[in-house]
Amino acid sequence: MSFRLFFSIWLFVCFLLISIPPALSEPISRGALLSNSCAGCHGTDGRSPGAIPSINGKSALFIAGSMREFRSGKRPSTVMGRHAKGYSDEEIQLIAEFFASRK
Ligand code: HEC
Repeated sequence: MSFRLFFSIWLFVCFLLISIPPALSEPISRGALLSNSCAGCHGTDGRSPGAIPSINGKSALFIAGSMREFRSGKRPSTVMGRHAKGYSDEEIQLIAEFFASRK
């Protein structure tokens, strides 16, 4: 076997090894991606390590409702009002469903 042929096959095998695992793994949902910005304060998956309330496992209705009330100013807040203003209703719903699914 010529070195060239061997090298081409070797490159091909490397390509397969690199490209297959991402294709097999589950895609990350949009809700999970959006919820990353909440983790800084509310903890990974909404499990807060400190004084800020945990939001994992709370109902999607409660989380989405709170977010909309923070956004409109109906519910007073220190930071959530400002943070919530960056999200559309659809995004709030996706985030709320993500946290509701984290027990
Ligand atoms: C900068 C820190 C910070 C970030 C980022 C943040 N929060 Fe908050 N969150 C708070 C604080 C502090 C409170 C308490 C209310 C207040 O003072 O704003 C709170 C309260 C809440 C509450 C009410 C909890 C309860 O039990 O009453 C919900 C729901 C919530 N946040 C959801 C979210 C979501 C969803 C995100 C991401 C989109 C998020 N928060 C991002 C700090 C943060």
